[in-house]
Amino acid sequence: MTSTLLTGIGELTTWEPERPASTGAALVVEGGKVAWTGPAGEAPAADAAVDLGGRAVVPGFVDSHSHLVFAGERSEEFAARMAGQSYAAGGIRTTVAATRAATDEELLARAAALVAEMVRQGTTTVEIKSGYGLSVHDEARSLAIARQLTDETTFLGAHVVPQEYADDPAAYVDLVTGPMLAAAAPYARWIDVFCEEGAFDVDQARAVLAAGAAAGLRGRLHANQLTYGGGVRLACELGLAAVDHCTFLTDDDVSALADSGTVATLLPGVEFSTRQPYPDARRLLDAGVHVALASDCNPGSCFTSSIPLCIALAVREMGMTPTEALRAATETGARALGRDAEGLGTLRVGAPADLAVLEAPSHLHLAYRPGVPLVRQVWRAGRPV
Ligand code: NIG
Ligand code: FE
Repeated sequence: MTSTLLTGIGELTTWEPERPASTGAALVVEGGKVAWTGPAGEAPAADAAVDLGGRAVVPGFVDSHSHLVFAGERSEEFAARMAGQSYAAGGIRTTVAATRAATDEELLARAAALVAEMVRQGTTTVEIKSGYGLSVHDEARSLAIARQLTDETTFLGAHVVPQEYADDPAAYVDLVTGPMLAAAAPYARWIDVFCEEGAFDVDQARAVLAAGAAAGLRGRLHANQLTYGGGVRLACELGLAAVDHCTFLTDDDVSALADSGTVATLLPGVEFSTRQPYPDARRLLDAGVHVALASDCNPGSCFTSSIPLCIALAVREMGMTPTEALRAATETGARALGRDAEGLGTLRVGAPADLAVLEAPSHLHLAYRPGVPLVRQVWRAGRPV
């Protein structure tokens, strides 16, 4: 096994408990994992060395929420929102029609291009949902495509009730929990529901998550994005790994999150792109809730692939410090995917050597220099991408 020494690191963020970030640091990678970190002057010998010239190194971003398998785009809908129209769940059906009409090759090429766009911006792990097929065939193929790009795939047949079931949502839930789940499960690790007015209610979400659990899929949930509702409390009651959006929360919701340990994944690109109020990250952190940040990259509510943008928004608009926001986009993102035990989202010894080299002296610049492409280089499993 060959080892590589990364030295000349201006600031190294490891999330090591005693030393979350240190200056003048070095890191050794071996076998795809972090083998050593510490002061540059004490670094052990390695087979190869790379001098990073004083740049900051942070863990690669863990984007725990995206919808990348789709065709078409909805820029006109975005423009209409910016002219005063409000966001509604129904726009999803536009993308469903385009996705059903696309070939597998087109869907894979588009999703792969978006993953590449993410990687260029520092993302080294991405979760990808289905949810624009909404038929047995189209959900299964969406997940088969997603699976070619990541292990973190999520079955979201319960995204919205498709047009052909508009008069009989109960029959659609039966389809999702029956034949669609059976076709999707071989390609999925997770199951998700859009629990919201205009999509699925708490009882329907509970039924879908229970069927998923019986098929071996772990649950996550879209909840409290557009309205107050019982979705967050359902996620906490079921002990789900994460509940995402969390824009409209009561005090009871916040307590339930703190008590359950379920990660609240905030998606500030959505509020940016729908002109909704941002979720209050400060309130959640002060209550002891695990807060993650993710892109929610999708053609409707938020078409950004940029975690640095999400970090900047979380700092400027949601009361997070730059360090809290980076942690939310790395270590807590990994927790939201149930991947914290292996050290994903950190650069502790033994963790996957997934990292971003910044064209900046410290991680503070991610929020301090919004909109600037600061990610100079990305390493995955110990190799430059
Ligand atoms: O996470 N909230 C539901 N689903 C996506 C939006 C999908 C769309 O508008 O196409 C989201 O925001
Ligand atoms: Fe989403």
